[in-house]
Amino acid sequence: MKVQIELYHWRHYFGGVAVVLLVAQFSTGIFLGLFYQPDLQQAYASVQGLYRDGSVGAWIRDGHRWLAFFIFAAIVVHVARSLLRKDFLNYLRKRSWLTGGLLMLPILALMVTGFILPWEWRAYWFMEMVPNYLGSIPLVGPALKAFLIDAFTLSRNFIAHVVILPVVAYILIDFHILAMLRRRKTPIGKYLAKHAMITIPFFIAVAALAVTIPMPTEDPDVIPMPLEGANIPTAEWYFLFLLRPFLDFEKAVAPFFGIYLPLALLVVLIVLPYLFKGRNKVRPEGGSLSRSMARLMKKKMVGAAVSVLVVFFVAGAAFGVLYAETHESPTLGCNSCHNISMGVRMGIPPKAFKDRKIIPLVDDNRWMVEHWFYPQVAW
Ligand code: HEC
Repeated sequence: MKVQIELYHWRHYFGGVAVVLLVAQFSTGIFLGLFYQPDLQQAYASVQGLYRDGSVGAWIRDGHRWLAFFIFAAIVVHVARSLLRKDFLNYLRKRSWLTGGLLMLPILALMVTGFILPWEWRAYWFMEMVPNYLGSIPLVGPALKAFLIDAFTLSRNFIAHVVILPVVAYILIDFHILAMLRRRKTPIGKYLAKHAMITIPFFIAVAALAVTIPMPTEDPDVIPMPLEGANIPTAEWYFLFLLRPFLDFEKAVAPFFGIYLPLALLVVLIVLPYLFKGRNKVRPEGGSLSRSMARLMKKKMVGAAVSVLVVFFVAGAAFGVLYAETHESPTLGCNSCHNISMGVRMGIPPKAFKDRKIIPLVDDNRWMVEHWFYPQVAW
């Protein structure tokens, strides 16, 4: 039997890992969806219920949280290696490249809509901050912001998270990888099974983290300190990374680092195959596994080791920047003040959410981001 070396190659490890983790994310998501209630009064209680009614639900919810972090992490490594390998020169893969870049948008949107679902104070903060963020885009920004605030309901957010965004992501994944598998006549089950094996270390990490570091459920029995939970990596980091410039820079500069620069980089990344149009070439689609392994053993060992190191160096640098910008985020701290024992106004997100006339502070991006990172300043 002839096997396609491309799919076995270490350089595809993280793309395959991301696919398998997404399948796990989908399964845990279905479970959580069975218990979640998209209602302002009930949502939070329904999430807390998972923790009260035994450990399996809590474990799956925390797993869902941690999986989100690892999915994006795997994607970052996958992008780093695809860039270094100049996959954008391969015109047979042009569609894969394009859809891969676009895929990052629904995946980020899935994270953001996911944070909002539990409807505690961090969720409320995210719900107010997403329109603020998009509102700083010139021309269309203010209208978009007004629309998003107006249109928000918890059930719409839920439908976006469980139906619209997964469908968009699935269509892109189909173009990105499944179409290629069909062309190569690789059964999807086989592809998944093979990659599930190499994803085992990630599953072990997710399971261990889900058990040892549960995401806060604002349980008033265990009131933390305001700055507790700094340095715990969470999926929030990927979005907080885009918001942090609103704290560090003045009004006009903040959107530059928070919106335009990341957006410009994403656009450049997506159109790379078109920028290098003249230099396109076809890569051989592999040979038999044993033949390629033999070739690798012979003379490519050093080259392969060097490219592994370079990919990890580049991806490591990306995570270094992410860490430097967001590590102070107090993952567990919000409910040191915002909890039921502090009274209804502090315990449950206020009824006047969305209403910037009654709560003008949420319009102030700098205050909002500072309040997230250094909430003790609020006093
Ligand atoms: C040290 C106590 C404290 C901590 C910790 C804290 N907050 Fe607050 N928060 C406050 C106070 C007090 C206000 C009201 C400020 C005001 O009205 O002047 C507030 C207001 C807010 C608001 C503004 C909207 C409103 O309804 O007043 C949001 C959103 C918010 N907090 C979210 C968070 C999030 C998210 C966290 C965790 C990252 C957090 N808070 C941690 C004390 C705290």
